[in-house]
Amino acid sequence: MKAWTLDSTGAGLRLEEVPDPQLQSGAAVLRMLAVQVPAYTRVLTVGGRGGIATPTVLGIGGIGRMTAVAEDVHTVRTGDIALSTGFLSTGRIAEPEEVLLGWTGIGGRGTPTIATDGMRRVWRTGTFAEQALMPASTLVALPGAERYPDLARLAFLPWLSVAAGAVERSALTPGDRVVVTGASGQLGGATVLLALARGAGRIAAVGRNASSLERVAALDPRVRPVRSVGDRAVDAAAILDALGGEADVTIDALGPAPTADLTMAGFDVLRLDGTMVLLGGVRQTLPMPYDELMHRRITLRGSWMASNETAYSVWRQVEAGLLDLSALEVTTAGLDDPDTVLAQAEATSGLGFVALMP
Ligand SMILES: NC(=O)c1ccc[n+]([C@@H]2O[C@H](COP(=O)([O-])OP(=O)(O)OC[C@H]3O[C@@H](n4cnc5c(N)ncnc54)[C@H](OP(=O)(O)O)[C@@H]3O)[C@@H](O)[C@H]2O)c1
Repeated sequence: MKAWTLDSTGAGLRLEEVPDPQLQSGAAVLRMLAVQVPAYTRVLTVGGRGGIATPTVLGIGGIGRMTAVAEDVHTVRTGDIALSTGFLSTGRIAEPEEVLLGWTGIGGRGTPTIATDGMRRVWRTGTFAEQALMPASTLVALPGAERYPDLARLAFLPWLSVAAGAVERSALTPGDRVVVTGASGQLGGATVLLALARGAGRIAAVGRNASSLERVAALDPRVRPVRSVGDRAVDAAAILDALGGEADVTIDALGPAPTADLTMAGFDVLRLDGTMVLLGGVRQTLPMPYDELMHRRITLRGSWMASNETAYSVWRQVEAGLLDLSALEVTTAGLDDPDTVLAQAEATSGLGFVALMP
């Protein structure tokens, strides 16, 4: 089969003929149908987002049709269209450990252990390929997906699921005033879609890229775009203005920003008893004032990836029309020219993305 392989970090992504994945106990083989190529994929291949277990077929997430299912696997059935999350847990209740397959990412404190090394050594068949072999626990059957009119749009399900994990952890309730910092990014755009579906009353969509913000604002009159100027106090004032008051919930979906200022502006605008969820890729230490966190009774939560139940609930919302994917700007691509596709992906943001259709 054809696949995009990464021999080592920085070696470049190559189109290669590799052996078809062989079915093994506890796993299933998918024929990949649609896979999102995140905007930062090229940066990731050169080590800009953490270590990758190589050599590997790269690629996380996506939807595929199950072509072979091991006899001890019952999460999916042959012929199903399923979501591949790439999110694998040891399942050990006492000290759970988690990794992402075909990608960068070790959960918890991010430190490799015997278990995380083991998981990342066994599973090297990522989703930027015609077929992928995945452990059963990372597959979520999507009954009814075969009737969805445009499968390329479903490539965004993994990103939507991750955003949904953050929205759930924020305990957003209908009518809430919500801030999404990094709303001009793909994860931020997904978060705005999820917050709208959950009944947010007003959303301040904060970012720098004007055209991305415009697209997000066009989703619904409840979304108010806020152009960040990179000054904490000025950004906070603009957010308060857009919301018409303090926020119930802030969800930070920023990429690796050079300072914590915009994240902290999202903190500054929270009301008493407000909740802040950290979802993005900021690598800064946050200057959290103890007394304010205490007196304002702020709940501060992290959110990494999402449960299979959350991913399934996202699909149910799409199927029911609550999550409308028609606003997504999808560019489809094949496997033939990885370099061009990575460049196309790099140029996408917000509600625009590249769907690989191997
Ligand atoms: N928690 C999880 O489970 C999870 C899962 C997947 C990914 N992530 C992380 O989420 C982050 C966002 O993902 P993404 O795909 O949406 O990335 P992205 O497309 O790169 O978007 C990043 C967002 O951050 C903003 N940004 C980037 N650099 C900035 C800077 N220097 N100053 C101010 N704003 C800046 C961008 O603003 P403009 O475009 O407007 O400039 C955009 O709104 C990534 O870093 C990724 O590692 C987390």
